[in-house]
Amino acid sequence: MRVLIKQDENKIAQWTANYLIKKINDFNPTIKKPFVLGLPTGSSPIATYKELIRRNKIGDISFKHIITFNMDEYIGIPENHPQSYHSFMYEKLFNHIDIPSENINILKGNASNLEKECIEYEKKILKYGGIDIFLGGIGMDGHIAFNEPGSSLTSRTSIKILCYDTIQANSRFFENDAHQVPSAALTVGVGTIMDAREVLVIVSGYKKARALKEVVEGAVNHMWPASMLQMHPKCILVCDEPSTLEFQVKTVKYFKDIERISTDGSPQ
Ligand code: GLP
Repeated sequence: MRVLIKQDENKIAQWTANYLIKKINDFNPTIKKPFVLGLPTGSSPIATYKELIRRNKIGDISFKHIITFNMDEYIGIPENHPQSYHSFMYEKLFNHIDIPSENINILKGNASNLEKECIEYEKKILKYGGIDIFLGGIGMDGHIAFNEPGSSLTSRTSIKILCYDTIQANSRFFENDAHQVPSAALTVGVGTIMDAREVLVIVSGYKKARALKEVVEGAVNHMWPASMLQMHPKCILVCDEPSTLEFQVKTVKYFKDIERISTDGSPQ
């Protein structure tokens, strides 16, 4: 696991967008060999999405041959609900880039058969040869996608009941009313994320500091599902300074020293 400590959200966004653009351009995607990108919602990736949009507009990156798979979607709200993850993704990214709509995959939280929807999603990821890079965020309780504390660390795409902390945290998007937040969601599993060839996770703000400490310094533990990323061969956590405030001093020093030495930009 590589932990990058950036000054603030803007620096995170610039680094993450640069990294993705380089990886995608080096891959040189074509219609026959598309690049497969996993994407998150939430506030963490918004600045990165803005930067990707800007870079798309100036021609640094094209999304024409990129296939996207989103991490999760609420169950029980319409796709056109302003807080659905469908709406979020179109508003924050897809409406502003050159991605063909048929390349976009988002779980359908209103599918008549939700279990089948999950199985088909996994099959579709496999059909494209797996995910090249999964971009993600983590919750304050250490969840990844909607894999809440106590989730199996080898889980596949499935239906999840959201825990109170997540409902409370996400109520900020639902007029601060926890009752309006859906109580369940469809989500890729921890195992689905672990199968990606690379995982990039954005962590920002002091409110994530406890989770980040557990994920990086703690043991692999299902009560902090994102801690499973310690087992991933190519995972980068891109953090801002405030999110690292609960780290031991030696952890910060260790990762900063590695970055000073590292020249090839590859995960350690
Ligand atoms: C949400 C989403 C996750 C997201 C996380 C963090 O509930 N299901 O995919 O990564 O919580 O959200 P934020 O970036 O807004 O802190």
